[in-house]
Amino acid sequence: MLEMKWDPSMETGNQDIDNDHRYVFCLIHTIEAATKCHVHPNVLQNLAELVILYTSVHFSREQQLQKKVGFEEAEEHKDLHREFVDRVNAMKATLSELSTDQELYKTCMAKFRDLLKNWWNHHILEEDMKMKEHFSQNK
Ligand SMILES: [Fe+2]
Ligand SMILES: [Fe+2]
Repeated sequence: MLEMKWDPSMETGNQDIDNDHRYVFCLIHTIEAATKCHVHPNVLQNLAELVILYTSVHFSREQQLQKKVGFEEAEEHKDLHREFVDRVNAMKATLSELSTDQELYKTCMAKFRDLLKNWWNHHILEEDMKMKEHFSQNK
């Protein structure tokens, strides 16, 4: 399993974006702790909602910035963001139908945690990092 550790190699060079990303990591740690403690599905559902709210704010900030610096892959990048929100929304809907004693809930918790970890590790390092050059040119 991937370790979620903030690393200087994850910095895009834009402070607002990097701060947002660092907070995403904090959120993921909170969710990880919640899954370890086997919280009630409702709690995890609320945390999923928080992820959607926070990442939506971050995604629009990032998309606006991409327009400003003339990022070529802005449209494709927007689709990646939208896809993430859709996946978390689907997860939230599944969580709303579960109870703590179900085996399905354990699977769902693990899936949610892995989705967050894998998606964000990949997205920051492979996708957001493409903006780095633009940020350094537009300082
Ligand atoms: Fe980002
Ligand atoms: Fe992004």
